[in-house]
Amino acid sequence: MYYLDHAATTPMHPEVAAVMLEVMQGPGGNPSSMHAFGRAAKQLLSRSRDGMAAALHCRPNELVFTSGGTESDNLAIIGAARALRHEGKNHIITSAAEHHAVLHTCEWLSKQGYEVTVLPVDATGRVSPEDVRNAITSRTGLMTIMHGNNEVGTMQPIQELGEIARAHGITFHVDAVQSLGSFPYDLHDLPVDLVSFSAHKINGPAGVGLLYIKQGTPIEPLALGGSQERKRRAGTENVAGIAGFARALDLCVSNRSSRRQELDVLREVWIEQLTARLDKDAIMVNGHGEERLPHIANLSFLGVDTETMLMNLDLSGIAASSGSACTSGSLERSHVLRAMKLPDEHLNTAIRFSFGLGNTREQLDEAAQIVATIVQRIRNNS
Ligand SMILES: Cc1ncc(COP(=O)(O)O)c(C=O)c1O
Repeated sequence: MYYLDHAATTPMHPEVAAVMLEVMQGPGGNPSSMHAFGRAAKQLLSRSRDGMAAALHCRPNELVFTSGGTESDNLAIIGAARALRHEGKNHIITSAAEHHAVLHTCEWLSKQGYEVTVLPVDATGRVSPEDVRNAITSRTGLMTIMHGNNEVGTMQPIQELGEIARAHGITFHVDAVQSLGSFPYDLHDLPVDLVSFSAHKINGPAGVGLLYIKQGTPIEPLALGGSQERKRRAGTENVAGIAGFARALDLCVSNRSSRRQELDVLREVWIEQLTARLDKDAIMVNGHGEERLPHIANLSFLGVDTETMLMNLDLSGIAASSGSACTSGSLERSHVLRAMKLPDEHLNTAIRFSFGLGNTREQLDEAAQIVATIVQRIRNNS
């Protein structure tokens, strides 16, 4: 089996599993309880938060634990939009290449009376800072633009976009779910106010996320109840999951540059191996050439329909993805590739391969041979 779908989720690192098991097999305790069990759980929670704040260069009280990237995006966007409305701001700027956790949230807000501008992206998936400037009005309160795209890997110029937001007093939210593994975040240095992260994209557990809320950022909670997370997200914390996330981030930060290099090599090897075996003109690499995440390669195999390809890959033990949603058993064409205005021939033949822990050069050599054979077989039969 070849797992080449690390952008969907990553295998858990054994050290993460060990930390979580230790917590789960321990005495337990609710961090909000006053007794010794509760205090021990709270200590563990604080240690995890402190470690993560140090790794991300922010204050521990600027981090809110959530149930994943989706919840972080929802809390950031809906929470900030509600708070900003009190200031007479009801306009939100986003881009057409965002994850559905952002796009569907913005769509929902537009039904609640907010005005939403969805910016186009260019053929590589990048937002234009000029378009951002032109979209700003006196009622713009929030901008939400992702850092690294989950389908094609294109990175947005968040430094520049953040500076524009700062200059206009606009709250800036960044979905950094895919980029946490490869980008060294210094949250106090970046011009950002809200940043979403997720544990399962960096070899941590699924169902655990993080939202950075820069001190002073106006935001209303979505979940009401207890006073956990300084009343910004009620609910008993997932202590084992959070401890696992903290360890995953630790591992990720300490190995980041070597990991990045390894991923760059794997991606390069993958594309080289395929282009060496197949007609070079019949493979398109989608996304940006330089401004991109190292672990994603989105390729169009011209003449080979995405669905047929995925089925054949699966039968051969290769897990990859179309990068797009599966609705009622059939593949919906990717909204990201559509936003990039790729020709139908590229859109209908795109496959996302993504690499990570456990992948080796040897593995990719073997898998590339299998992919090439499948492509040739399908092309010969059609
Ligand atoms: C860019 C991006 N944002 C948000 C999410 C949602 O994160 P989660 O699966 O933790 O809810 C994902 C997951 O695929 C993602 O890639």
